[in-house]
Amino acid sequence: MVSSQNRVFHQPVMAAEVAQFLVADPEGAFLDLTAGGGGHLKALVPRLGSQARLYGLDKDPEAVTRAARALEGAVQLRKIVKAAFGDLVDTVGQFEDKSFSGVLLDLGLSSYQLEDPSRGFSFQQDGPLDMRFDPSIGLSAADLIASLDERSLARLIREYGEERQAARIAKAIVRERRRKVIGTTGRLVEIILSVIKSPHRTKALARVFQAIRIAVNRELDELQRVLPEALEVLSPGGRLAVIAYHSLEDRIVKRFLQQEARGRCICPPGLPVCTCGSHPTIRIITRKVVKPQPDEIRRNPRARSARLRLAEKL
Ligand SMILES: C[S@@+](CC[C@H](N)C(=O)[O-])C[C@H]1O[C@@H](n2cnc3c(N)ncnc32)[C@H](O)[C@@H]1O
Repeated sequence: MVSSQNRVFHQPVMAAEVAQFLVADPEGAFLDLTAGGGGHLKALVPRLGSQARLYGLDKDPEAVTRAARALEGAVQLRKIVKAAFGDLVDTVGQFEDKSFSGVLLDLGLSSYQLEDPSRGFSFQQDGPLDMRFDPSIGLSAADLIASLDERSLARLIREYGEERQAARIAKAIVRERRRKVIGTTGRLVEIILSVIKSPHRTKALARVFQAIRIAVNRELDELQRVLPEALEVLSPGGRLAVIAYHSLEDRIVKRFLQQEARGRCICPPGLPVCTCGSHPTIRIITRKVVKPQPDEIRRNPRARSARLRLAEKL
């Protein structure tokens, strides 16, 4: 991420590694499920032949426009649409290609979203407490905070933010919202800081904001839904790349891939041999998760938490 004179850039994370792995067939069809600023799609182009086809989707309408602009002039570009990746199979119905030789999921949010105060994702800038990837659908962060009871709020902050002081923070939020609606990121920051003492303050802010963002966008549910659908739309031999930015996401991806690589056995426990006929659907390429090189982290500190996992459909 680089920001200067109000210009924000999103640097695609591990773009070279992703492109090298995904493009086994230079004339294939490729689908980016989180098109963002179009950075990863653009990084594929130099490896593609003129018959290749590129598709993308994103929940955020601004990202769709941005990604389409980044790909302007690429002869391989077919379509970038506004859609949630949890509805993948339906969305693919509107594409010319229905199966793909490469599919990418780059989870989380882009620097464009983080750095825009009007989106409410950042605890470093004051703005409306929104945090929706698609601002036209569902409850905003302010609505969520206004409606949850104290126990649910504490559980959300503990489970999605892995924040140990969740109960204190939830209590403070509930106390303050009785006095006045919590409608801005700045107000939420003040409330969190009123009960968290240094040196844990920045981490606590990051964790609470992460937790609320995950809940607002139902990120973990969407991830659970998209993984099997991503495999479904891959051609045999097709390749899947997933980049996660925190342990909750990465754990879901890791378990899913392990299960698919073993075969989804549904035999009752205790049977000496498998009789249900399940078989592996993928080969995991990266036994160990791939992390960005130190050089990339120096150039783009946002990359530091990234974890890339790669698999090939059998
Ligand atoms: C890390 S950014 C992707 C950046 C992109 N790879 C690039 O290089 O520019 C993640 C993107 O995923 C989108 N997103 C998050 N959840 C989504 C979902 N459920 N369905 C579709 N897009 C989603 C966000 O709006 C955001 O633009």
